[in-house]
Amino acid sequence: DFCAQFRTVHVDPLEQKWIKIALLIIALLVGIIAIDAFFHGINPPSKVETIDSARLHLSKEFAESNLGVQLDDKGAIVVRMVAGRYSFFPKHISVPAETKLTFRWVSMDVLHGVHIPMTNMSTMIVPGYVAEITTSFPKPGEYPVLCNEYCGLGHNHMWSNISVIA
Ligand code: CUA
Repeated sequence: DFCAQFRTVHVDPLEQKWIKIALLIIALLVGIIAIDAFFHGINPPSKVETIDSARLHLSKEFAESNLGVQLDDKGAIVVRMVAGRYSFFPKHISVPAETKLTFRWVSMDVLHGVHIPMTNMSTMIVPGYVAEITTSFPKPGEYPVLCNEYCGLGHNHMWSNISVIA
């Protein structure tokens, strides 16, 4: 059999030792991954949430009445917005300046991106996933919300507006 064949081949003892060490390291790494997958489930690195993009209107969180600026039960501000060809919904929101805001974005159709100049807000909005970004606006004013992933013929006109209030 295969093992018997292997035994008849002369392998230097030092090399045998290193083969064993290499196999041990591989077993250890596979074991760590297996144990982690078992206890934590297999997730993408950022632990992104999934969502059914075709049924957003039925989803509790992203139902139309739930979009825009809301306070969560801990008093934090959460902004929920939906990206779709060719706008962000709601089209216009107002938020306070110098305040931590948690944005949660979903797409209802294709891949979009969101970019708010002069902030750290820049992410892809991948259908099927919730994109969450925390940011704040240091200065009051009018901020554009732009799509920065090509999403079709209306891509250049896909934008929305945020009023930041002192
Ligand atoms: Cu949406 Cu480009």
